[in-house]
Amino acid sequence: MNTTQTEQWQTLWINIHLATMTDASNSYGEIEHGALAVSNGKIVWLGKEQDLPQFDKHQVEVINGKGLWMTPGLIDCHTHLVYGGNRANEFEMRLQGKSYQEIANAGGGIVSTVKATRAASEQELLASALPRLTALHQQGVTTVEIKSGYGLDTTTEIKMLKVAGLLAKKLPVTIKRTFLGAHALPIEYKNQPDAYIDLVCEEMMPTIAKQQLADTVDVFCEGIGFDIKQTERVFSAAKKHGLSIKVHAEQLSDLGGTELAAKYKALSSDHVEFLSNDGVKAMADANMTAVLLPGAFYFLRETQLPPIDALREQGVAIAIATDANPGSSPICSLQLMLNMACTLFRLTPSEAIAGVTCHGAKALGLSETKGQLKVGFDADLACWNIEQPAELCYQFGVNPLSTLFKAGIKVI
Ligand code: NIG
Ligand code: FE
Repeated sequence: MNTTQTEQWQTLWINIHLATMTDASNSYGEIEHGALAVSNGKIVWLGKEQDLPQFDKHQVEVINGKGLWMTPGLIDCHTHLVYGGNRANEFEMRLQGKSYQEIANAGGGIVSTVKATRAASEQELLASALPRLTALHQQGVTTVEIKSGYGLDTTTEIKMLKVAGLLAKKLPVTIKRTFLGAHALPIEYKNQPDAYIDLVCEEMMPTIAKQQLADTVDVFCEGIGFDIKQTERVFSAAKKHGLSIKVHAEQLSDLGGTELAAKYKALSSDHVEFLSNDGVKAMADANMTAVLLPGAFYFLRETQLPPIDALREQGVAIAIATDANPGSSPICSLQLMLNMACTLFRLTPSEAIAGVTCHGAKALGLSETKGQLKVGFDADLACWNIEQPAELCYQFGVNPLSTLFKAGIKVI
């Protein structure tokens, strides 16, 4: 690189170790004693500090990284951050012996959050979601996916997605919005799931697509959610509207939702504890990402582990997310998920970190711009007060985030 190009550098980090996450095959893609330059919000150079080209010290802001580690800003690729109320009462019921499914079947569960979300104003939803997003952000998160799905009527689904959009104006976080109208059956459609799916496909989805309130569609394909036929109707409508597809599948049973999603070239299948070998193969063939949600596994005290070895053998990218929601994962810490991905799912620390960087990006269709330290990628950068990357997974409770940059600008 010659000096003419370096003149355009705006910020340069020196004396920093880089976990580039560009080679997710069990490595952090480390560049120790590195340097990284940013211009117009993008990474424009990175490498060993000793290989730095000549640059004009008066033109460039030089930041001494003091030997810290830098990773891509973290990505939480599966959340339900916007909702009304909370479900601490159901937590108590579960401790008295009721199961998640029993509570759902008795009119609690998702449907009870729907009541509270319908009753809340846009401002109230924004005010309750903001501390959750702040908690994620303060732990190094710069991109978050947020799903609708606690409205289950057109007005409230739109309200949720609008609030998710407003959150991006409150904090320097990229928000990706997903329409999850097919999350549960609202009470007014009791025993009429097909009529509700008509509403999702024929009224909600066209409006949301037209107003560009979401670019992805998700379905809860499960005994307490929607069956395969209903799921397929939603996928087929999503395809018609040019929206990407995701699925909550194989969380509590194996209905084949993942294989169906693979046929529709979905971005990801999420949960997947009960995924079969054929399901894993289908994911590999369709280049889908498996989003593992250790928070829900932990909080529901599940025992069926996702098929990690099969996913590894088939080369399926594994992402890790909080699934932050009031019912199955009231957890707003991606750092805790890194720890649980290792302790509960036996992922290696580099696999877990790939899960919240490059593979988190892949699960959101952002693998060309986010989740890696690479020339041309967004300069969403997290600097950590650690001596080795594995510390991000190893210790929990002391926040090692030192500084955070969004598009090259210091935000923490
Ligand atoms: O991802 N599985 C469906 N949706 C959420 C649970 C939502 C809730 O219980 O409120 C999940 O686990
Ligand atoms: Fe979820």
